[in-house]
Amino acid sequence: MVRYNFPEYEIELEIPDNVYFPKEDSFFILESVEIADSHRFLLEIGGGSGIISIVLSCKHPSIRCLITDISFSSAKTINKNSRINKVNNRIDIICMDKMQALRQTHPDLVIWNPPYLPSDEEIDSLTIEDKKMLIGGKRGYEEVYELLKYIKYNRIKTTFYTLFSSIAWNKKNIGKLKEDGFSVQIIRETSLFFEKLYLVKVIFSDSDA
Ligand SMILES: C[S@@+](CC[C@H](N)C(=O)[O-])C[C@H]1O[C@@H](n2cnc3c(N)ncnc32)[C@H](O)[C@@H]1O
Repeated sequence: MVRYNFPEYEIELEIPDNVYFPKEDSFFILESVEIADSHRFLLEIGGGSGIISIVLSCKHPSIRCLITDISFSSAKTINKNSRINKVNNRIDIICMDKMQALRQTHPDLVIWNPPYLPSDEEIDSLTIEDKKMLIGGKRGYEEVYELLKYIKYNRIKTTFYTLFSSIAWNKKNIGKLKEDGFSVQIIRETSLFFEKLYLVKVIFSDSDA
């Protein structure tokens, strides 16, 4: 297994071919997420190689992380990588769909770098693992919207960070989310070669139902 060095974060990760290799989207989240001194519990959905939680754990030793991923290969990889970087005593991993069995948990933060591309006719050439990493639904963002509804319905008080891509999602969609009762804002955007990424923050408070 090849071990990759990420010198800017002072970590090393083993990443098999069927696990998402960290890219600009992963780094964009890492550069942008705000961790407060009071934050103790981070829930990361779709951890992939584990990069986001591992880096945040190294930087903020008082934080405990719970990471989910629907891919068993990712779950095993995160386990290995948290040991390599000596944060395994602060990171737990569950292989599951989003946070389906965690309606009673109350994380300070939820982070998801989601699959955000729409499905189209080229999808047939992708492996099942690739689809999990890349395709976020017919329009590209259904998976994230499902999670938003789940958090709201279960009255989980938290702050949620996620990404949308201009390939699938239009900035104007923020208005519709607000109409639907979400306290949501685009906190940063970045232009990549052929798309824009929007980092969105959603605050779920006591008044959410
Ligand atoms: C774009 S990758 C991000 C990986 C990693 N967090 C990073 O930033 O490099 C998306 C991840 O979400 C996972 N995933 C996709 N659908 C999921 C779901 N319904 N529940 C949990 N994880 C999911 C994929 O397996 C993949 O690891």
